[in-house]
Amino acid sequence: MARVVPTETVDMGETVAIRTSTGRTLRKVIGSRRTEAVRRWERKMRVGAARKLSPHGTPSVDKAKHAYVPADPFAEFPEPTRSRHQVLRALHRQLKPRTYLEVGVFTGASLGLSRTRSIGIDPAYTITKEIQCEVQLHRTTSDEFFSRPDPVAFFDGVPIDLAFIDGMHLAEFALRDFMNVEKHMSPAGVVLIDDMLPRNSLEAARDRKTSAWAGDVFKVADILRSYRPDLTIIPVNTSPTGVVIVLGLDPTSRVLEDNYDAALAACLAPDPQIVPEETLRRTHTADPASLIASPVWGKLADLRKKTVNRAALDKVLANLSA
Ligand SMILES: C[S@@+](CC[C@H](N)C(=O)[O-])C[C@H]1O[C@@H](n2cnc3c(N)ncnc32)[C@H](O)[C@@H]1O
Repeated sequence: MARVVPTETVDMGETVAIRTSTGRTLRKVIGSRRTEAVRRWERKMRVGAARKLSPHGTPSVDKAKHAYVPADPFAEFPEPTRSRHQVLRALHRQLKPRTYLEVGVFTGASLGLSRTRSIGIDPAYTITKEIQCEVQLHRTTSDEFFSRPDPVAFFDGVPIDLAFIDGMHLAEFALRDFMNVEKHMSPAGVVLIDDMLPRNSLEAARDRKTSAWAGDVFKVADILRSYRPDLTIIPVNTSPTGVVIVLGLDPTSRVLEDNYDAALAACLAPDPQIVPEETLRRTHTADPASLIASPVWGKLADLRKKTVNRAALDKVLANLSA
């Protein structure tokens, strides 16, 4: 059979006509129409998955294990203007952190954004991305890492300026990661927690059912709000599953340790997870593009130059909240 090769490509705005050696014309949709088509397809797949897992779905599904009633698995929310990695990249650029710590490295896509002395922790990382920083990688769980006598010795006494928590997607793990990370943070530092805005209850399941998985880490934001009103907590509408930025850190605080069991007992529940409407619809979130344009990040970097003055820090953060 003769090989079909493209002979001519005609740009027609959002479609491209490709003439081939056999005289046929193939049309390929590109640009925003293509993106929309992919989104429609993704939504269709999600609807299909939700139906299959629903108690009224396909009989072959193990209903005892997967039975759930989705609250509103396809809630609409404003189109995110930035991804989590774009926000992380912007924070690296604007904060110019002296140190960066990451829980959950995977292939190194987020670690690859760092240009500073870094620590990465992951029991099963497989780095495939280019890494352009001085880094210490630990092939272990975050709990084991932080149980070591001086886990961040690599930073030579410099506190952590920027941390990204993206390890095990269960609320108790993410809460412990935050507690452990905060002990080593600069008070003017920034903690980013990933997967805080799941898009439906399937994605928020503790027992993973979807390829894009947020788990129930969204509960950590409520725990922090309840027990740590001293923190500034900003949910950000990033793609795919939202982040929360935590500021105004207090490395000496033991409030979360003291209330760990009670805080989790009040929110842990077996699947299906009930994700609050406000989280699904992202109604109380910051727009990432506006947030990263804020002058606050430069001010936080300046504050680090001296012993961090709490009153000055609170003033900077009040501006951000406003
Ligand atoms: C979503 S991936 C991280 C993605 C990465 N941060 C990025 O943005 O490119 C989650 C990673 O967390 C790791 N992980 C799972 N349990 C963990 C634990 N207890 N401590 C640290 N990492 C963990 C997994 O091995 C996985 O590679």
